Amino acid sequence: MCGIVGYIGKEDASEIIISGLQRLEYRGYDSAGIAIVSNGVIERRRSEGKLINLSGSLHVDPIIGHTGIGHTRWATHGRPTEFNAHPHVDNTSSIAVVHNGIIENYMSLKEDLKADGYKFVSQTDTEVLAHLMADEMSKDGDMAAAMRGALKRVEGAYAIGVVHKDRPDVLLAGRKDSPLIIGLGDGENFIASDVPAILPYTRSIIYLDDEEIAVLTKDNVEIFNLDGDRIEKPVEHIEWNPVLAEKSGYDHFMLKEIFEQPQVIRNTIGGRTDEENAQIYLEEIGLTDGEIKNIETIYIVACGTAYYSGCVGKYLLEKLARVHVDVDLASEFRYREPMVNERTLVIVISQSGETADTLAALREAKKRGAKVIGIVNVKGSSIAREVDGALYIHAGPEIGVASTKAYMAMLIALMLLSIQFGRIRELIEAPEARRLIRKLKGLPSKIEEILDNIEAIKDIADRYSEFRDFLYLGRGVNFPTAMEGALKLKEISYIHAEAYAAGEMKHGPIALIDRRMPVVAIATRSATYEKIISNIQEVIAREGMVIAVATTGDVNITSYSKDVMYVPDTDELLSPMIVVVPLQLLAYYVAVNRGSDVDQPRNLAKSVTVE
Ligand code: G6P
Repeated sequence: MCGIVGYIGKEDASEIIISGLQRLEYRGYDSAGIAIVSNGVIERRRSEGKLINLSGSLHVDPIIGHTGIGHTRWATHGRPTEFNAHPHVDNTSSIAVVHNGIIENYMSLKEDLKADGYKFVSQTDTEVLAHLMADEMSKDGDMAAAMRGALKRVEGAYAIGVVHKDRPDVLLAGRKDSPLIIGLGDGENFIASDVPAILPYTRSIIYLDDEEIAVLTKDNVEIFNLDGDRIEKPVEHIEWNPVLAEKSGYDHFMLKEIFEQPQVIRNTIGGRTDEENAQIYLEEIGLTDGEIKNIETIYIVACGTAYYSGCVGKYLLEKLARVHVDVDLASEFRYREPMVNERTLVIVISQSGETADTLAALREAKKRGAKVIGIVNVKGSSIAREVDGALYIHAGPEIGVASTKAYMAMLIALMLLSIQFGRIRELIEAPEARRLIRKLKGLPSKIEEILDNIEAIKDIADRYSEFRDFLYLGRGVNFPTAMEGALKLKEISYIHAEAYAAGEMKHGPIALIDRRMPVVAIATRSATYEKIISNIQEVIAREGMVIAVATTGDVNITSYSKDVMYVPDTDELLSPMIVVVPLQLLAYYVAVNRGSDVDQPRNLAKSVTVE
């Protein structure tokens, strides 16, 4: 939630900050603002709505300066108006602050500050930070000491950037429970909520930890704890290519990311398989063979799309590793006193590695004595750093708010894990493991086949874009695929869509079926193919319209369904990776037809760092 970018150096700060915010707009996009130190004053500009409103106004009337901070907002406290947009300033407009997170004790701090004469002009929790800084600076004038003092007074989560009108040579940053990174350049330094913001300028990163503050000048970065002790931090090198954070000719990031999926699968598999010896290598998760054999129960915990990947993971792990798996929404798991002990493995899944509920669930599981591993995309993210072992999915930066390639990579990671656990628990023989590894490696070319023939899917999207409700049906390992397909449609096209296990349809949703509700039925070749055909017939008998996802060569399906999206055949366990692709494309083209903002759908944010 909310994106922060800060710059100190020789270049035009506002240009660099706006371009960084553009790459962070997936984090929030209801208002934006910038503050630049310019000739001894803070020049601030803020706009309601998308970043383009702000960048347009800067284009007409630029702000000159080499030190500054910027923010793109996802409102929590206070409506998304210009007054509530960040940066916020103190009463003398000397200090400007951008903030991501929630200051939980802001009400009481506000009362205290008001009693001391500070005037509030916004409804945000963030404004207290600007006044607190001013209050602390009035004590001895030192900016870093003031920041430490201010942060000691707040409770809650924050990533902040601060500039002062008289100190163009300093940019301050701090964090607790909200992400913030420092980018190191040559004669320039950066702060940002996430790597893509600064990827075109540097790939040398310092990850700030909780309750650390950073003092940046153009040539130097120093990190301190809240007591003022200096901390040495490692500099990490990011492998992501800056091109991955650009649209590269595609109309939307989402479409580009759908098309990246074959390559993402190759990257996730990477050097982790040894087909000849029928082995999977996942040392990074830090589990010994003994520990893997000893696992009694697995909890998979995640939110959103990552949760649906976990639902597929349950089928894979139970089938291949014969271990009981529960899948939980992180927001539920963290509050329901889960039955976790030292023989429980908890797997948290998160693209961003920053989702607040998932992070809290991970902490809860650790507190209860479970071993926790993470399936994570963003290197160095909070979840990646707190788990006992992180399995990186190597999907590259995912910018579209609706997750596609990260979902695919999560499925691949779960499959690798399932084969490995199955081998170690002596449940899968070498030839079977070899077969699965071969099938896994064959997935990219099958997905390329779908992507080379998208016309039929586009045509279906054109004919179904005006409907108001959709039902998605799937069985077994593709029940979660139906849920993910429905989620994609509702996220970006705002069409009501719900998913059901096909066999459950007769217990309720069948009452909804009529000519106004298309039914997307996953009917690829599987052990339950005949059963889903019966379910499809139940729909047709009630004048429902069926769009089937079927295996190439299945000609019979056309006699049951109005439309068919064909996908290449694969092993049933791997079919979720194939079947989801036409569902992503269907959602995408329907949303485009309806004129939605595909990459930044209303009310959503990609990285949900609030509860
Ligand atoms: C938000 C996003 C979803 C995402 C979910 C979990 O709701 O809009 O696309 O699946 O968060 O995010 P994570 O980063 O933990 O995978």
